[in-house]
Amino acid sequence: MKILLTGGTGYIGSHTAIELIKEGHEVEILDNLFNSKITVLDRIQEISGVKPKFYEVDMLDKEALDKVFAEGNYDIVFHFAGLKAVGESVEKPIRYYENNLGSTINMLDCMKKYSVNKLIFSSSATVYGEQPVAELTEDMQTGVGITNPYGRTKYMIEEIIKDVVISNPNFEATILRYFNPVGAHPSGLIGEDPNDIPNNLMPIIMKVSTGELPCLSIYGNDYDTPDGTGIRDYIHIVDLAKGHVASMQKMKPGVNIYNLGTGKGTSVLEMVEAFEKASGKKLNTKIAPRRAGDLAEVYANPTKAEKELGWKTELTITDAMKDTINYLNHLAK
Ligand code: WQD
Repeated sequence: MKILLTGGTGYIGSHTAIELIKEGHEVEILDNLFNSKITVLDRIQEISGVKPKFYEVDMLDKEALDKVFAEGNYDIVFHFAGLKAVGESVEKPIRYYENNLGSTINMLDCMKKYSVNKLIFSSSATVYGEQPVAELTEDMQTGVGITNPYGRTKYMIEEIIKDVVISNPNFEATILRYFNPVGAHPSGLIGEDPNDIPNNLMPIIMKVSTGELPCLSIYGNDYDTPDGTGIRDYIHIVDLAKGHVASMQKMKPGVNIYNLGTGKGTSVLEMVEAFEKASGKKLNTKIAPRRAGDLAEVYANPTKAEKELGWKTELTITDAMKDTINYLNHLAK
């Protein structure tokens, strides 16, 4: 298959590019490099032997995007591109709606014009908003109690995709709802390396371990969880990337939605402990007040992906910590 990855130099896109190349697919990458580095292309080449064709394009530039599709002759698009800082989205809602929705609408327009009828969309567990239970399944209502514009853009894009599929029976879409991606490629050559100040737990742990940040603030230890800290479903980035390959191989008509998670919850303190054990270094941490919008406990029920895609996670939190540390050691060279 000839595949376009939007946002393909990013954390999830680059790891997915490697797994798709390994399967023999022709991968091209489009990215505006707002939150990633062009050197990732060289790392992909070092790992896979292939340097994907690259377009430095902002998807809000409809003319430039149209040119990519005009010459691409793609079989399928994986749409990773988007702003994704939860906190920043609260401060800059218009930027998030304009960028995430505008980019997607431009892309869907181009796909229609050039008859590219397969889409895999990078969504997020955030679309579930507030639920009465911690374990999330794909049939649950979405869009209610989402606490930030970033999450709402993911929800709105899911709804736009559903409407596009209704309007065009030839269009097939798979929506993948990620939980909490962590870890790095075992080569140590690529990993999570955001340009912006991270919000997420793991990139902050990484920066505390290298001394770039002084301390990890643990947002609340008074939740109704075994150790009082927040519980999430942390999925190794390589498992997540393989989930994308599996979903492409099992695409079918209509809109199909899958949770990509381990099905297990891990607390903040357990993540800290796992990193310290893997690195042999103590992390500087302090207990801080809860973060607005945080839920106590969230994890995937991944049985639908297992049944329909023949995919489930194989790597552990310890694997993710070891691969993260290996990546940090490579970055330090
Ligand atoms: C995880 C846990 C925090 C930072 C978000 C998005 C979601 C997805 C993943 C894009 C929570 C705690 C964190 C810190 C902490 N992103 N924490 N100190 O909030 O589960 O999900 O990122 O798709 O859409 O909503 O991830 O990594 O921010 O937090 O104690 O400095 O770590 O309270 O319990 P989250 P996170």
